[in-house]
Amino acid sequence: MTPTPQWLNGPLENRGGKLYFDGVSAEELAEAFDTPLYVISESRIRDNYTRLCNALTRNYEKIRVYYAAKANSNLAVLNILEKEGAYLDAVSPGEVFMALTTGFPPSRILFTGTSVRNDELRFLADSNITVNFDSLSQLDRLLKIKVPTVLSVRVNPEIGAGHHNHCITAGKNTKFGLWETDAVKAYKTAKAAGVERFGIHMHVGSGVLDVDPFVLALDKLLNVAKKVHDELGVSFEFVDMGGGIGVPYKPEDNELDLALFSEKVLALFKRRVKEYDLGEPFFCVEPGRYLVCDASILLTRVNTVKVTPFKRFAGVDAGFNTLVRPTMYGSYHHVLVANKLDAPDEETYDVAGPVCESGDLLAKDRRLPKIQEGDLLAVLNAGAYGYAMSSQYNARPRAAEVLVKDGKCAVTRERERLDALVSGQRVAE
Ligand code: LLP
Repeated sequence: MTPTPQWLNGPLENRGGKLYFDGVSAEELAEAFDTPLYVISESRIRDNYTRLCNALTRNYEKIRVYYAAKANSNLAVLNILEKEGAYLDAVSPGEVFMALTTGFPPSRILFTGTSVRNDELRFLADSNITVNFDSLSQLDRLLKIKVPTVLSVRVNPEIGAGHHNHCITAGKNTKFGLWETDAVKAYKTAKAAGVERFGIHMHVGSGVLDVDPFVLALDKLLNVAKKVHDELGVSFEFVDMGGGIGVPYKPEDNELDLALFSEKVLALFKRRVKEYDLGEPFFCVEPGRYLVCDASILLTRVNTVKVTPFKRFAGVDAGFNTLVRPTMYGSYHHVLVANKLDAPDEETYDVAGPVCESGDLLAKDRRLPKIQEGDLLAVLNAGAYGYAMSSQYNARPRAAEVLVKDGKCAVTRERERLDALVSGQRVAE
C-alpha cells in the first residue's frame, strides 16, 4: 500500500517501501526494542508547539499554551514542552507531581480537577500552583485550608463539542464546570475571602475540528467574565479557553484550519475584552492532542493471520490494553504495514489484539497489503491518550516508549517486565 501523501507529513517517511519515523527505521526500532512499542518524535512535538504559538501570537501577543498532560505524561514529553516554555494543565496531584519533577515551576502549572479530595487540595495548596475550581464545595474546602493569591473558575459555557459523547465536557449533561449563577457566587466567595488575582476557564470537549463551537462558547465565557467584572469589580489576569483542538485521524478528515481558528477566536476575544472593559488578560489554550497525537506511532508485530468464513484477522501483539481508543470510543487509527508501504492493498482485515474480548480490535475492515505473520504494523496518531490510557488488563505488562530525533533514538520508558504485574501485591495471611 502506498500511504496517501497526508500520512507522509511530519515524521513519517517512505524509504523504499519501508516506514521511517523521524529518520529512524520502524523495523530497526521493533528489532531493537521489541513490540508493542510507542515511538515518539521529538521534532514533531516541537513543531506542533511552535506552529500553534505562532498562529496565536499572530493575532494577540499575550498568550499562554498550557499542555494538557493527560494526553501523554511521559517525562521526556513533559521535558520537551517545559524547555519550549509551555505551561501545563494538570488534572490530578499525580500530574502536578510529574510536572514539578520535570522542572515546571509552580507558576506555570494550572490544576483543573473534578471531584477533588481534601488531602489533594492540601497538596495543591502546599505546591503553590494555581487551582481552577470545578465546584463551589471544592472552593469552600480549599479556602478553609489556605486562601490562595490567585485562582480561577471553570465555567460551563453551555456549548459542548467533541468526537464522542464521553469527550463532550460542556453543556447540559456534563459534570464539569459551574453554571453562570454559581460561577458568580464562586468569585464572590473567593473575593470576600481575600483572593486578589483571578482567571476564568472553560473546556468545550475534545477532538473538535470546527472553529464555531470554540467561538460560541468563548463568547459565553466572556459574557460570564463581564458579569463577574461588573458585579464584583473582579478583573482577570487570564482567560483560558481550554483544549480540544482536533487532529485528522481518517485520511478523509480535514485539519482544523489553525489560522482561521486563531483569527476568529482572537477577533472575538479582543472585541469583547475591549467592549466589556476587561483589561489585557492573557489568552490561554490547553491543547493535549494537538501537540502530541501525530508525534507518536505504535509499532505492533503480526503474530497470526486467521481466515474465517466471514473475516480475515491480523492478530497483533498490541490490544486495547495498549491502545484503548478504538474499543472505548470506536476511534479510527490509520494502520500501515510498515515493511510493505509500496505493496498494493489486496485484502480486508480486522486488526485484532491479544485481549480476551471480541471488542479488542485496533482497526476494522481495513484494506491493507497482504499481511503475513512477522509483518510489522504501525498504528498512526497514537501519541495522545495512547500509552496514557493503557493498562495491564489480562496481566499484560505495559509497552515500552522510545523517543526519536533526526535518526537517533533513546528509550524513555522501559517495557514493563512480568514482575510489574505483582509489584505491590500481597497474599493475605
Ligand atoms: N483541558 C481540559 C480541562 C480537559 O479536560 C482536556 C481533556 C484538555 C484540556 C485537553 O483536551 P485535548 O486538547 O487533548 O482535546 N481520552 C479521550 C480524550 C479525553 C480528553 C479529556 N479532557 C480521547 O482519547 O479522545
